Amino acid sequence: MYAIIGASGNTGSVIAGKLLAQGEKVRVIGRDASRLERLVQKGAEAFVANVSDAAALTKAFRGSKAVYLMIPPNPGHPNVREDQERVSDALVAAVRDAGVEHAVVLSSIGADKPDKTGPVVGLHNLEQKLNGVASLKADYLRAGYFMENLFPQVGIIKNFGVTGGPLRSDLKVAMIATQDIGAAAAEALRKLAFTGKQARELLGQRDLTYQEVTVAIGKAIGKPGLAYMQLGPAQLKPAMTQMGMSASMADLLLEMSESLNSGYMAPLEPRSAQNTTPTSIEMFVAEQFVPRFTGKAAGA
Ligand SMILES: NC(=O)c1ccc[n+]([C@@H]2O[C@H](COP(=O)([O-])OP(=O)(O)OC[C@H]3O[C@@H](n4cnc5c(N)ncnc54)[C@H](OP(=O)(O)O)[C@@H]3O)[C@@H](O)[C@H]2O)c1
Repeated sequence: MYAIIGASGNTGSVIAGKLLAQGEKVRVIGRDASRLERLVQKGAEAFVANVSDAAALTKAFRGSKAVYLMIPPNPGHPNVREDQERVSDALVAAVRDAGVEHAVVLSSIGADKPDKTGPVVGLHNLEQKLNGVASLKADYLRAGYFMENLFPQVGIIKNFGVTGGPLRSDLKVAMIATQDIGAAAAEALRKLAFTGKQARELLGQRDLTYQEVTVAIGKAIGKPGLAYMQLGPAQLKPAMTQMGMSASMADLLLEMSESLNSGYMAPLEPRSAQNTTPTSIEMFVAEQFVPRFTGKAAGA
């Protein structure tokens, strides 16, 4: 049996779906039973637990062959870093107390750095804390920048006629669709080929600038002249908090953006067949972005 944290989310739902399709037993963990129902219909066992509840997670992990771990985003929390530490403490205590032997863990590029990477500091610390569990074998998936981060551009294009954000327009970024992370994680869980603790990067199909992403979006939505505008913290922070983020989350994302812009936060591996994944920006924009832009996405 596999236990999956964040099973109703972007990566977790793909992992659970793939393992179930391969006939595996899967325990899907989330806060809300109704959001797990879709997977229960496919044969999963639902386990309702909060990620900061170590005792509940210990029960959820007990008897599993391997677990998928992540720190769910909590962008409205008044102190996001404190919340991340509480969650990673609970995850690690549960891994230890349940005697988990194998974990595939969602991390990020930049998790090699102890500071100045915003929310990624929480993932660095999660890796470090798990390194302290001697008997655990762990595969840290250091993923690139999620293509799903592009969804707020729907509103920006509609309101301002441009795309915009904190990153330099010429900065090459390893952008990945979360479905590719889910596929890689499911494969790692099936094979359990890692024998100690290892970190490896998942860098998407190719590196892209926001300018290039904007061209791809513009073509797909029939606005060929669409342009990207780099925006400063003074413009972005109020917009982020208006979207429902706490000031803490907005500050962390701005710190991360600065570290990406300066090159402090960057992939460590050269691009290779192992860290390259299939979904191109053109595929992502056609299948995911355009339906949201036109309001025809499932559930939109
Ligand atoms: N955005 C990026 O560019 C990027 C890059 C690299 C790494 N990351 C990391 O990727 C992770 C996010 O992955 P994702 O996109 O797959 O997540 P996601 O789609 O936001 O899913 C989060 C999942 O966690 C569950 N959840 C939320 N709060 C919970 C709680 N308190 N207790 C139990 N379950 C809870 C949610 O389920 P319910 O709401 O149904 O409970 C949902 O299934 C973060 O750790 C982030 O740092 C992000």
